[in-house]
Amino acid sequence: MSESISNELSGSAEKLIRGRHATRAFRPEAVPEDTMRALFSLAGAAPSNSNAQPWRVEVVSGAARERLADALQAAHAEKRTSVDFPYSEEMYSPVHQARRAAFAAELYGALGIGRDDHTARAAYDAESLRFYGAPHAAFLFVNGDGGARLAADVGAYMQTLLLAMTAYGVDSCPQGLLSFYADTVRAELGVTEGKLLVGISFGYADEAAPVNRVTTGRAALAATTAFHD
Ligand SMILES: Cc1cc2nc3c(=O)[nH]c(=O)nc-3n(C[C@H](O)[C@H](O)[C@H](O)COP(=O)(O)O)c2cc1C
Repeated sequence: MSESISNELSGSAEKLIRGRHATRAFRPEAVPEDTMRALFSLAGAAPSNSNAQPWRVEVVSGAARERLADALQAAHAEKRTSVDFPYSEEMYSPVHQARRAAFAAELYGALGIGRDDHTARAAYDAESLRFYGAPHAAFLFVNGDGGARLAADVGAYMQTLLLAMTAYGVDSCPQGLLSFYADTVRAELGVTEGKLLVGISFGYADEAAPVNRVTTGRAALAATTAFHD
């Protein structure tokens, strides 16, 4: 590869990767169908162990999206949660907890929700089950035994999809919260196989919403990466 092509590509990669942000307020306009097909075709180029491609993706729009949002909110109101991948606060180390706390302070600050206002936080969570107003949501299931190695492949698919969306000017938010209602999602969409890893809301950002101005930092390189020679 020539040096100029390589410089051009690295500049574009920098822009693409750093240009992706979680969006939490969307406009109602739908993503055109041809863009939709392009996004999910491109996401399928993600790498996976032995090229097994253990993902299964269910995308909701229009009336199906409405029905699912209603069902999720009903499940939430009735405390009918169901997770395929167990979750616990204890899975995080102290340094992870500190990063999470800094992020929560940023997010709830932008929303004008006080640190200890648990009622307002719970109301925000309940509302977010309507996909932050996004016209579409994609649900990523891990097929096969749904174990950690296959889930990692679906994680690679997720990031490939998010970057494809960024490249096409489509905004997104991965929502782990949606995976707490796995049985509801399965029942609504008639899914009989796989474990639900994450849902991704997507569409076009409402640029005027203050929540979309939240910025997140990252740990210094040396805190996460060692080079050995
Ligand atoms: C697997 C996964 C689950 C997430 N779950 C949620 C969620 O439930 N709600 C939410 O608002 N953001 C969620 N996020 C978005 C993260 O908060 C966000 O990616 C992180 O704070 C970094 O910010 P950035 O994406 O803007 O760079 C999730 C992200 C990932 C990768």
